[in-house]
Amino acid sequence: MASTLALPAPDRSQIPPDPLVQTRDLTRIWGRGDAAQIGVSRVNLDLHRGEVVAIVGPSGSGKSTLGALLAGIDTPTSGSLVVAGRRIDALKADRLAAWRAETVGIVFQDFHLLPTLTAQENVELALELGGVRRRRRRPAEAALAAVGLLDKGNRLPSQLSGGEQQRVGIARAIARRPVLLVADEPTGSLDQRTGHEVFDLLCGLAAGGTTVVFITHDPALAEAADRIVTMIDGRVAGVQ
Ligand SMILES: Nc1ncnc2c1ncn2[C@@H]1O[C@H](COP(=O)(O)OP(=O)(O)OP(=O)(O)O)[C@@H](O)[C@H]1O
Ligand SMILES: [Mg+2]
Repeated sequence: MASTLALPAPDRSQIPPDPLVQTRDLTRIWGRGDAAQIGVSRVNLDLHRGEVVAIVGPSGSGKSTLGALLAGIDTPTSGSLVVAGRRIDALKADRLAAWRAETVGIVFQDFHLLPTLTAQENVELALELGGVRRRRRRPAEAALAAVGLLDKGNRLPSQLSGGEQQRVGIARAIARRPVLLVADEPTGSLDQRTGHEVFDLLCGLAAGGTTVVFITHDPALAEAADRIVTMIDGRVAGVQ
């Protein structure tokens, strides 16, 4: 599978500064006072280009909250988030959506593929929703080729194994050549061996320059990352 990873590389037409991602006192809280629920509190992280960062920690420690903030799915209550030199934390919803479409790839635990569309159509739809008005076939094919699934582009998700479905999910996430990829337990629904294959695939993307943020409960996968961020009670308890 590794030999198929040449494409797609991130779009570096505007080379982003390093660190690619910088958070300062990044905080997400729901509610107020005694009823306040802390998602993450005062997170300070620098993530570099082409780096694989694992986020680990107990259930409820803020991993998904942090992933959602980094991916621009959610907005912080306070603190700053700079990605590729741009302040993201204060963007209005429509601008945030546009930024997300061109900058971030998102991979979900349960794949989120549309069951009535083929693998190729799932990837093309993501390109369309990401604002690519035409000429979607070839970039979709390139993304499927990068995950080793070009020959299965005409299959429906139900005709693919779990690992293959997740590879389509990754193809969809990388089709627009994002500089940042956020994956929330992407191997959580896969057996161990398939999970490791998906992890290797994500690492291959990082070798091409994409920064990969990888939330996992699997200590063996976390150990294989360049750095491990451990979350406890919404705070960064350690970076190693
Ligand atoms: N929409 C929300 N409203 C209120 N509290 C929330 C909301 N989303 C998350 N939280 C709280 O934020 C904290 C962190 O949740 P988060 O989902 O980030 O944890 P996690 O580390 O991803 O856990 P898991 O390993 O179970 O996926 C939890 O206490 C959770 O209850
Ligand atoms: Mg979670």
